[in-house]
Amino acid sequence: MKGRLLKGLLAVVGLSLCGLLMGAAASNDTAPTPPGKTTFYKDVLPILQNNCQSCHRAGEVAPMALMTYDDARPWAVAIKLAVTTKKMPPWYADPQYGHFSNERTLTPQQIRTLVSWVDGGAKPGDPKDAPAPVKFVDGWNIGVPDRVIEMPVAYNVPAEGTVEYQYIVIPGGFTQDTWIKAAEVRPGNRAVVHHVIAFIRPPDSKWMQDAKPGEFFVPKKEPEAKDAKDKDKPEAKPEAKQEGSDQQQPRRRRAGDIGELLVGYAPGLQPLQLTDEAKLIKAGSDIVLQLHYTANGTPGSDKTKIGLIFTKQAPKLRSIQLAASNAGFKIPPNDSNYEVKSQVELQETVTLADLMPHMHFRGKDFRFEAIYPDGRTETLLSVPNYDFNWQLGYRLATPMVLPKGTRIECTAHFDNSANNPYNPDPTKEVKWGDQTWEEMMIGFFSVTVADPKVNAAQLVKFEKPGTRTSTQPTTKPESKPAGSVGGSSQQ
Ligand code: HEC
Repeated sequence: MKGRLLKGLLAVVGLSLCGLLMGAAASNDTAPTPPGKTTFYKDVLPILQNNCQSCHRAGEVAPMALMTYDDARPWAVAIKLAVTTKKMPPWYADPQYGHFSNERTLTPQQIRTLVSWVDGGAKPGDPKDAPAPVKFVDGWNIGVPDRVIEMPVAYNVPAEGTVEYQYIVIPGGFTQDTWIKAAEVRPGNRAVVHHVIAFIRPPDSKWMQDAKPGEFFVPKKEPEAKDAKDKDKPEAKPEAKQEGSDQQQPRRRRAGDIGELLVGYAPGLQPLQLTDEAKLIKAGSDIVLQLHYTANGTPGSDKTKIGLIFTKQAPKLRSIQLAASNAGFKIPPNDSNYEVKSQVELQETVTLADLMPHMHFRGKDFRFEAIYPDGRTETLLSVPNYDFNWQLGYRLATPMVLPKGTRIECTAHFDNSANNPYNPDPTKEVKWGDQTWEEMMIGFFSVTVADPKVNAAQLVKFEKPGTRTSTQPTTKPESKPAGSVGGSSQQ
């Protein structure tokens, strides 16, 4: 009797709790409205504003705007398909691992609302129900920049053929150390710009010495490391480890010389927007743009610009982009699951802020793991279905302290078989290269440090993947700093 009463009570409490929870969800979310009653202005527009309009508006990356009823109505059926298949909004992280502040996913309830709207005839409803429009700054997602740096000359992209990566050094005119809170690349012509990376070149750097400021420049290709075959040896002698890992990074020998990545543009990539931390541009630095143009059948001309927002005072934390990359792989023809790993060891205690895998057309999946000094392993990010068309960065909801000696290990798989619809040629052996039919394997990650003077190039040491024994903590700087932003120069 008592038992039953208690059960009944519990059931009631359970029910009301449930109701409460649903109520809470419904107030955050859109209240469930039956088909036919779901309207654009009341139910759909708020979802579009918060989840779609950052890309689906004039001048942004998506091909059509979803700002108004007239914009969205013709796309109703496509919207239903895109959200039920999770194609939109684009987001590729396995939800099992990590929480990310820039996560782009719809709740099941939001998906139901969109579906119900479409199934009910995609009705407009009463414009009076519409939420206030979101205020976007025209042309910029970061807000009005404090400074805009534009290419001094336009690049003319031919109708056909492969265009080598172009570089242009733009004198920065920074008369004092400048802290950057936000930065955004705006391509002048999205039809021909595949990607852009803006680097900071500090005043003492010899990188791109031969480039004339303000003119396009194509660096000479480096000869392949003649000893590259050694890297395939399964075990290198302990004292050869550093050497061995260097051979895996033939293009990374100059890594310490090149600039630090400031901000990039690629489909899906969000602008740099930092909260507590900022990036440092030292007085006298230049900006170097790496531009990847793709011919699309019609000639086009591009003048890309970057916008910067400054912090008024020095921040508590400095943000630095690092990478664990491996340039020493050879993917055999027709291999559907070829594994490539990369590994770095942190030389200082840092705080991890974000992660970004980078591969090309054959990229299949990518995983970041941290191996702590005590041997514990943790998956930081897993992207089980990598899509080259979406170069997404994953910003940690809660930044993580990684103690000195932590290893970042990245594991990637490549599909070089005929089953990969993006594969340009399954009969080819594929190596590292700039062009999209060549491959890359870069695990970009950015960290924050309290000491603004830290030498970014010495924060990580490249290792042979699988190395687990601890290395001697070096007090003097490494002679050949590998990494820092090394991989980024080759993206
Ligand atoms: C990060 C940018 C971005 C966001 C956010 C985004 N989209 Fe898209 N969307 C794109 C781009 C780019 C395309 C075109 C390329 C493609 O189809 O992959 C696209 C294509 C589409 C298409 C056409 C699909 C097709 O199969 O042709 C629909 C429909 C769509 N988006 C709806 C949405 C909806 C609804 C949302 C919000 C819930 C959304 N998108 C959020 C960038 C975005």
